[in-house]
Amino acid sequence: MKTKCIGILSSGGDAPGMNAAVRAITRSAIYNGFSVKAIYRGYEGLITGEIEEFKTQNVSNIIQKGGTILKTARSKEFRTPEGRQVAYETLQREGIDALVIIGGDGSLTGARIFGEEYNIPCIGLPGTIDNDLNGTDTTIGYDTALNTIIECVDKIRDTATSHDRLFFVEVMGRDAGFLALNSALASGAEAAIIPEDQTDSDQLEEFINRGFRKSKKSSIVIVAESPKDGGAMHYADRVKNEYPQYDVRVTILGHIQRGGSPTANDRILASRLGAAAIEAILDGQRNVMVGIQDNDIVYVPFNKAIKKDKKIDKGLIQVLNQLSI
Ligand code: F6P
Repeated sequence: MKTKCIGILSSGGDAPGMNAAVRAITRSAIYNGFSVKAIYRGYEGLITGEIEEFKTQNVSNIIQKGGTILKTARSKEFRTPEGRQVAYETLQREGIDALVIIGGDGSLTGARIFGEEYNIPCIGLPGTIDNDLNGTDTTIGYDTALNTIIECVDKIRDTATSHDRLFFVEVMGRDAGFLALNSALASGAEAAIIPEDQTDSDQLEEFINRGFRKSKKSSIVIVAESPKDGGAMHYADRVKNEYPQYDVRVTILGHIQRGGSPTANDRILASRLGAAAIEAILDGQRNVMVGIQDNDIVYVPFNKAIKKDKKIDKGLIQVLNQLSI
């Protein structure tokens, strides 16, 4: 069956650049003769029928905006077979015969299940600040979040230096340390504590044993939020108990990391991936995520993209250690 109408939705945590992706998908689709329907609030909109036809004007003046004009949600109902049945009926009623989903691993897992259950081509775009999707070097929103983090850390450094304090700064990433490790490198932080390194060592002890006070009076340690170890508060409490000589403070950056105008890199990435999603539909592809590897567009099966084992370059920990003497 030839695709005529493409549905677009954003799902899961929002990420800067999602709007640039919505714009690119909409305009490339219309350029190639498809009609476009915007689905609001992620998969939830497929269940409630919150859907609107998009023309090129609907995506004017959004490339620079953070968040997502389509809104987003984490739909509990779509996780059930009954919910997905309702979603499929909505698609049929609306005449939508292909879907482009912008989101992270949970959203692409939903797309994989839906695409397999029903005969509907689903194409995914990696949209998450966490950069934790396999098969793509980077995800939409990651670069902007990194830049937001380093802007904040630069400010924290001013007060840390003035008071000779040890700061633990907690950043997002769920179970992935990409934001933590790379923002530590980019902000000149003294260390990063990341979940991927947890099994190998006691990262706090290593940091203290490196003798960070030899050359410095203040230090910043970036900690990846991690449900496993309690994040920055946990490490600050440990320092208070085990090394009471240090004056410790904690900053949890939180959702500030998800907002803001996307960087040039994220806008370019979102534009390229959005156009490539339409190419994938034209080529008859289905159930793949569009990614970028070595600056080339790649199509990655959902199964591979959502595997929760994206490798982080642990060599970067060594670089960080060397540069923070
Ligand atoms: O997946 C993106 C992300 O920002 C994670 O880094 C974080 O753990 C999570 O979303 C928080 O999501 P929310 O507060 O929207 O539930």
